[in-house]
Amino acid sequence: MADEITPLIAGNWKMNGTSASLAEVARLAGLLAAGERPRCMVVICPPATLLAPLTAIAAPGGIVTGGQDCHPLPNGAHTGDIAAPMLVDAGAQFVILGHSERRADHAESSELVRSKAMAAIGSGLTPIICVGETEAERRAGDAERIVTSQLEASVPDDWGGRGIVVAYEPVWAIGTGLTPTAADIAQMHATIRQRLVDRFGAGGAGVPILYGGSLKPTNARDILAIENVNGGLVGGASLLANDFHAIISAV
Ligand code: PGA
Repeated sequence: MADEITPLIAGNWKMNGTSASLAEVARLAGLLAAGERPRCMVVICPPATLLAPLTAIAAPGGIVTGGQDCHPLPNGAHTGDIAAPMLVDAGAQFVILGHSERRADHAESSELVRSKAMAAIGSGLTPIICVGETEAERRAGDAERIVTSQLEASVPDDWGGRGIVVAYEPVWAIGTGLTPTAADIAQMHATIRQRLVDRFGAGGAGVPILYGGSLKPTNARDILAIENVNGGLVGGASLLANDFHAIISAV
């Protein structure tokens, strides 16, 4: 991992968790408080219903929280949506945007993701902007073209002096137990880094690029050691304190 970038391990709970799950976060906070200080920032992105109570429970362990989506507008007649200032009000510091499940389930375009990212930045949140190819796109030799075009269109030009995070998540690796080879991860992360540097100069060199997709205690050490991998976005394995703690400890 690049020395100058503070690594980040973010848990994406997706549509999982009720108030009973808060006990797992208290356990994780306990594990973190008892052990060596983690060499990374630890973020949990629970469902919006749990943001406020989870933020309170997580804070003593040094864990911060994030949302899983936000609307481009700060308020208004948008039933069921959540605005960036609401996430901030509930204690969030980050927000995941453009996850492949949102791109697929809600037909989110990269242009929409970019407008959400601008809203997030404007509210003081750090967006975790997700990109990644499908299995068919990889088989067709199109992975780099797809990922770089998503990156280009999803990342806003102006970060308002704040930071952003990019997560490379091959769609076919999410929740499947499959992962790309180390060489494929290294190549994609190098490509993303190069694009960010070309576009943003030193700012682009400092963006944490996370890997996501079946990151587990058993493969975390190897994957997190790959050049330009500055942490991970973890789905399934973030739901259990022991598994998530093992991934954090692998940094
Ligand atoms: P997974 O999900 O770790 O369960 O594969 C990762 C993600 O979708 O962020």
